[in-house]
Amino acid sequence: MAIKENPGDQKTRTSLLLVISSGLCLIFYVLGAWHRSGPGKGDSIAIAIAEKADCTTDLPDLNVETHHDMSASIDESETRNFEPCADNFTDYTPCQDQRRAMTFPRGNMVYRERHCPPDEEKIYCLIPAPKGYVAPFQWPKSRDYAAYVNVPYKSLTVEKAIQNWVQFQGNVFRFPGGGTQFPKGADNYIDQLSSVVPISDGTVRTVLDTGCGVASLGAYLLGRNVLTMSFAPRDSHEAQVQFALERGVPAVIGVLGSIKLPYPSRAFDMAHCSRCLIPWGENGGMYLMEVDRVLRPGGYWVLSGPPINWRTNYEAWERTKEDLGEEQRKIEETAKLLCWEKVTEIAEIGIWRKRINADSCSLRKDQSRVSMCSSADSDDVWYKEMEPCITRYPEVNSLDEVAGGELLQFPKRLNSVPPRIASGSISGFTAESFQQYNKLWQKHVTEYKRVNKLLDSGRYRNIMDMNAGLGGFAAAIESPKLWVMNVVPTISDISTLGVIYERGLIGIYHDWCEAFSTYPRTYDLIHADGVFSLYQGKCKMEDILLEMDRILRPEGAVIFRDNFNILIKVNKMVNGMRWKTKMTDHEDGSHMSEKILYAVKQYWVGGSESA
Ligand SMILES: *[C@@H]1O[C@H](CO)[C@@H](O)[C@H](O)[C@H]1NC(C)=O
Repeated sequence: MAIKENPGDQKTRTSLLLVISSGLCLIFYVLGAWHRSGPGKGDSIAIAIAEKADCTTDLPDLNVETHHDMSASIDESETRNFEPCADNFTDYTPCQDQRRAMTFPRGNMVYRERHCPPDEEKIYCLIPAPKGYVAPFQWPKSRDYAAYVNVPYKSLTVEKAIQNWVQFQGNVFRFPGGGTQFPKGADNYIDQLSSVVPISDGTVRTVLDTGCGVASLGAYLLGRNVLTMSFAPRDSHEAQVQFALERGVPAVIGVLGSIKLPYPSRAFDMAHCSRCLIPWGENGGMYLMEVDRVLRPGGYWVLSGPPINWRTNYEAWERTKEDLGEEQRKIEETAKLLCWEKVTEIAEIGIWRKRINADSCSLRKDQSRVSMCSSADSDDVWYKEMEPCITRYPEVNSLDEVAGGELLQFPKRLNSVPPRIASGSISGFTAESFQQYNKLWQKHVTEYKRVNKLLDSGRYRNIMDMNAGLGGFAAAIESPKLWVMNVVPTISDISTLGVIYERGLIGIYHDWCEAFSTYPRTYDLIHADGVFSLYQGKCKMEDILLEMDRILRPEGAVIFRDNFNILIKVNKMVNGMRWKTKMTDHEDGSHMSEKILYAVKQYWVGGSESA
């Protein structure tokens, strides 16, 4: 890697600075260096962008010779090299492994829920990319195309052929924007919804799509500035969620089974199911009660497909009138118990609305018919069993007050004080400190962008923040070119995920001592702020780092922000995982014990020994 010619005055720079600059260039050069070029593949796009990266970056404040003892990094022990796993591990999802799943009961989809390997079955090798792997297409092309080599499963094109989900064309998949329930395309379907649900003005910003297929709804809602958290189980339709993420659309592996959904209460502005195969009428209405928990007061529930409009469709669906009629009756009954208002039915779409507070529901006053949840904390959901009970609304003082606080339309919602903070329910945060917190993250992200020029380019689309706090990183980096999965670790002292949703961002609870509910190679950029301080003494550092390597795309990047002594250890370990790294000071100077470690995962694939 040659450094570009600099103007004369730059010669006065210290050689140290040159070393640092070229070091940084080297990392970002790695982004493009291993790409296999070829027409029609995503990699050529990635190369074009990588070439635009400015390697003459001026980095006057950067000083790796910190006041800390750098000799700590010259550890005598050898770096442990992690070897590639066998090639059949390319799509390994540790907590949704087919063979482990089959040892669990099928009833209530328990076998499709998270079942993680115990410590003695954890693997300590690197998940290989399939041979020929290319960088995915850039958004918005990725919405419609994915490279076959990256997701080599044709089963969906066959099984769902008539339903127009995916087509196979040469070496790429094409997504025509169809879905089982949207024969005229997802955009047309969204237009139908918009005639009833306020989708276009920022009132509906966060959507939960249960049983999402290849997430075409989420893909097209992005065009309306609406963020969708889509989930589907890892099942016989190979890799639906993998397709979604390959397309650059947020999704996780998940199922509505016996465990509560990993989202806080009052999070989503809309929940959606189109032919999602969830038995809404069964188990005493428990699944609808769980949807009600995560739905914001005033939020919408959309159900399209069976049993809606069964009188017209029962023959096409090959089901009896009695069966479908009974299913709808049960759904309507539970909706009444939940005190949802039936808004309308248009064609095969049924739309309900959750009332804005408990007082506006007379039935709720007679609580003898409904069983209210006793749990004091409706956000305490990680591995907690789902129960057939109704989550209480926060109290209100008048009939027209929105329980839990009214939200502004997006984007105003992003940086205004979220109701959970205004009400003082997030200990340690006030309206004022929230604003300071946001300023701090704007400063951090400005610094990240200064070092990694690709952050703003669209090169990184699927972004994960492993320890998202109040969503400061995601809010500061917010752009239509990318989306952020904001993870709130279950071991955090305070549960901040509700705030993240109130800002119009999406996220999920997770315990980083276990594998994340996603396929390998699904994120372009991972931000790890304080993760290794938080998990010290909780599980092995390599467990978390190997999981990061699994979910990171080849040539994807990581930004660690942590204590210097911790980053030294992280640095050593990831160097044995084929990552290139560079440590820099905090933007406030070298006296800060917090440092930043930039890393890039090298390109390598299975079946070959090295890069
Ligand atoms: C890969 O194959 C090996 C040997 O047959 C087997 O032990 C292992 O469980 C397989 N792994 C996966 C993820 O299928």
